[in-house]
Amino acid sequence: MLLPLPVLREQVTHYNELADDANWNRFKTLPWKDLNPDLLTEGQKQAVVFVTHVEDYTPGYCAEYQSIFPVNAASPGEAMHNRELFHFVSRWGLEEDRHAQALALYQVHSGIESDWDRLSETLILESQKEYQVGYKNLLQVTTFAFLQEKATQLYYQSLARNVSEPVLIKLLHLLTKDESRHFVFFSKIVSAYFDHFGLDCLPLVEEVAMNYRMPLHSTMNDYRRRAIRMAREAPGYDRALPVRNLFGFLEEIGEGRPEWQSELRASIGRMKDHLRM
Ligand SMILES: [Fe+2]
Ligand SMILES: [Fe+2]
Repeated sequence: MLLPLPVLREQVTHYNELADDANWNRFKTLPWKDLNPDLLTEGQKQAVVFVTHVEDYTPGYCAEYQSIFPVNAASPGEAMHNRELFHFVSRWGLEEDRHAQALALYQVHSGIESDWDRLSETLILESQKEYQVGYKNLLQVTTFAFLQEKATQLYYQSLARNVSEPVLIKLLHLLTKDESRHFVFFSKIVSAYFDHFGLDCLPLVEEVAMNYRMPLHSTMNDYRRRAIRMAREAPGYDRALPVRNLFGFLEEIGEGRPEWQSELRASIGRMKDHLRM
């Protein structure tokens, strides 16, 4: 199931049109001199550490995209599709890498970890661990990203509400804006899949939603305890929210296609049962 090239191109172009105008400087945009670490709680510091790890996994994702969607694919059609996708992946990778480094800089400036070398060592220890999204087709990869982008966007938004340290608030707002742009891109790709392949998409989307876990869940030491603590720092954040968002998205598709409604509803029911929601 490959999206027609013009469809993919339209979405990627639209994304990059917005993204090329949405730049900020990881080194200079934040007013580091206004940073007041005394305003950070221990829980907030731990939340920053945790999300730095999550963002720092970017090279792993980019490598995975390169291996699933090689630009030297044997078929010219597939190679063109992958080349087009690369316009997105390289820009998205840049933005996610900027998130990782901005958060790392925040750790250094705020004294959460003031030693760059020690911080780099801690970060690389997580990134060295094997972690793969595990899906091989663009629909499932983007469905996974749909959930993950929504999770990060909502998390940063909720965390910011509870923080009083001004530079962290500003950083979280910058991250939220990027994550919401990422989310829109992935949701448009999933939508395009439904437009072109109809309900054949549904079992694939269902599989991703039923098995969805945040990255690091299987590799980070003490993940469960840290994740619970992290959620506590962000009132209003609930890890079921991204999946609920997907249900809303599928319902919306059903509104435009009444003939699909019963299958979409049945699928949402199965996912809810499976996820005990
Ligand atoms: Fe990010
Ligand atoms: Fe993102």
